[in-house]
Amino acid sequence: ATHAQTYEKDCSSITPPYAQLIEKLERIRELLNNRPLTLAEKILYSHLKDPEKSLANGGKIRGESYLQLMPERVAMQDASAQLQFMSADLPRCAVPTSIHCDHLIQASEGADADLQKSIVSNKEVFDFLESAARKYGIEFWKPGSGIIHQIVLENYAAPGMLMLGTDSHTPNAGGLGMLAIGVGGADAVDAMTGTPWELKAPQVVGVHLTGQLNGWATPKDLILHLAGKLTVRGGTGRVLEYFGPGVFNQSCTGLATVANMGAEVGATTSTFPYTPSMRAYLMATGRAPVARAADNAASKGFLSADEKAEYDEVIEINLSDLEPTINGPFTPDLATPLSKFGAFVEEKQWSDELSAALIGSCTNSSYEDMTRVAEIAQQAKEAGLTAKVPFLCTPGSEQIRATMERDGVTSSLQDVGATVLANACGPCIGQWKRDDMKGKPNAILTSFNRNFRSRNDGNASTMNFLASPTIVTAMAFAGKLSFNPISDSLKLPSGKEFKFSPPKGQDLPAQGFTPGNASFYPSPNPEPQSDTEVMIDPESQRLELLKPFPSHFDQISAKDSELELPPLKVLMRVRGKCTTDHISAAGPWLKYKGHLTNISENLLITAVNDEGGDVNVAFDHGHTSSQTPSDTIPTIAKRFKSRDQPWALIADDNYGEGSAREHAALQPRFYGCTVIVARSFARIHETNLKKQGVLPLWFADKADYARIGSGDMIQTVGLTDLIRGKQDAVVRLQVTKSDGETYEIPTQHTMSVDQLNWFCAGSAINYIRSQLS
Ligand code: F3S
Repeated sequence: ATHAQTYEKDCSSITPPYAQLIEKLERIRELLNNRPLTLAEKILYSHLKDPEKSLANGGKIRGESYLQLMPERVAMQDASAQLQFMSADLPRCAVPTSIHCDHLIQASEGADADLQKSIVSNKEVFDFLESAARKYGIEFWKPGSGIIHQIVLENYAAPGMLMLGTDSHTPNAGGLGMLAIGVGGADAVDAMTGTPWELKAPQVVGVHLTGQLNGWATPKDLILHLAGKLTVRGGTGRVLEYFGPGVFNQSCTGLATVANMGAEVGATTSTFPYTPSMRAYLMATGRAPVARAADNAASKGFLSADEKAEYDEVIEINLSDLEPTINGPFTPDLATPLSKFGAFVEEKQWSDELSAALIGSCTNSSYEDMTRVAEIAQQAKEAGLTAKVPFLCTPGSEQIRATMERDGVTSSLQDVGATVLANACGPCIGQWKRDDMKGKPNAILTSFNRNFRSRNDGNASTMNFLASPTIVTAMAFAGKLSFNPISDSLKLPSGKEFKFSPPKGQDLPAQGFTPGNASFYPSPNPEPQSDTEVMIDPESQRLELLKPFPSHFDQISAKDSELELPPLKVLMRVRGKCTTDHISAAGPWLKYKGHLTNISENLLITAVNDEGGDVNVAFDHGHTSSQTPSDTIPTIAKRFKSRDQPWALIADDNYGEGSAREHAALQPRFYGCTVIVARSFARIHETNLKKQGVLPLWFADKADYARIGSGDMIQTVGLTDLIRGKQDAVVRLQVTKSDGETYEIPTQHTMSVDQLNWFCAGSAINYIRSQLS
């Protein structure tokens, strides 16, 4: 790639301590009898707090052992872990940390107007975040500076690094050959307080890439295709580690797109060996010292898998065979090759009309993506075409926005009718003011990463399809879902036929990046200013200090005490797909992220009750009062809380899939939920539940799901043994039905010793606080 490096950053706090990591890895190799290691293992094991302890059982680690890790960095989106960190009462963060204001900016008219409006309407939240950042020495990326993952890739990510981010698409930084893991705020607090962060050692799936992407196929199509193969559960408990010649002919930002959407298959994270494109990207983004240090680490074998490293599974993909792919609607794993998409739409008898085309977001707003779409726009303009539907573009960062503008990309898009939105999440997270489409069935195409129902515009009738930015852009000119830009032509006003040529992009700008507006950049690694007052108005409807949750067992030291939970009432049995969006909806609710009482009003409001099949309906069986026996889910949960009635929830497979949204765990806990029994859990959400003092239990026999329903009472049996250290103890649930019938149901669990300590203390933060004092 040709590029110019226009500036150099202070790299002191962003270069991984390679010498130390490599030295630790040498010790670990001995512990593991010098067996060949995957790249993911090298990065994870070199960040162990105490390798001798974690790797004690030598042989089988992946999928079995719990690793106590020391991440190097934390990134937080908006109000996420700050309130919990404050309750730990420490003067500063133990690792470099950043805050990114990106999720609260609404897309309506265009970048400047939207940003100004959002700054006014979210002022108290941004003021709180800024003051907390100043007090604890955190880098603060203010609204308009960009989307967390793009900023991390441009500024903080480095090969071989281990970092945590409070957003499920944190793995985006894997494009720079590191392990970046999406977690809930409570996990981030571990790293911020210097407490080892625990992860069950993931399995490692090798994705062997051969061949070369051609024509219209892009890295996005690779991951859309793979999502179709693996499904939304296929990556659970696993790292996707790509290798082979096909890794080396892709841009660093293209790899970041692939890593970003590993979240869609539930993968812990995704990574790649260090490549020349990564080096070029580091150089072009002002990080020559990091590139040099990485070159040196790579020469010692640290930044790629060992020869003959063994994977738990290997998936073969020949990039030369890939064609553009469109995924959706409503789930990212419903993959249809572009050549079959028109027939798919017809077969389903959907309308062929496209209602909007959206590009950008954290997933696809690299310079390469933007120059490719600009080329399509240019071709269309020359043919006399303009976009047939609203065409919206969200740049990922101020640096991308400014570079696009300088290089004429923005004007190429605007010339054909595009609206450039603020550098923020906007329509990707439901912050899209789309009043004209309220409740109307319609179809949109986006280059984003996630497409659960209602995600983009809050309209459950919007069918949302995912595709590469180039396909989205080309289809904006046709306005039809059935249009295939590879094979079809468009009729011009002149009557002539016009066909797009496959676009080429530039991975890096020939003149280098321009950082844009300097006021968007925080000073690196700031010192904490302990006299800063963190701004929270006690009357605020947006922010509320967190009150610690009560402990479940105060007396666990008394050897003879029973450690079973009080009888729990079942609130409801949730049917089918229940993502974190179903548990805690986004869109207009995001403004209450800092206020647990207010945001809890959205608990499970789009979940389906398996008893009756209704959405947002729960029952208050057996309670004799004037209150109606059925009401909304939050109303019934609130009633249980007011009666001090602890409760349980029954859930289906992959409960809590989707994002790292920890409100999906905080809210049920806030209302008194103590146990969730599911056919299976999504990883991040399961951990979030554990962190907040909710016990996740798995049905040993999935058929038992149907045997517990709302109003049933549950008594745990065997929890005492588990807490007392019998890791293989089986926790059974004694179920009492309303007619007095009782029976027991066996469950399984994934609770480690530490996690049981969190549970007993009522939450992880309660436990950390007790250990620090
Ligand atoms: Fe934001 Fe959407 Fe990415 S919400 S962080 S742009 S996935």
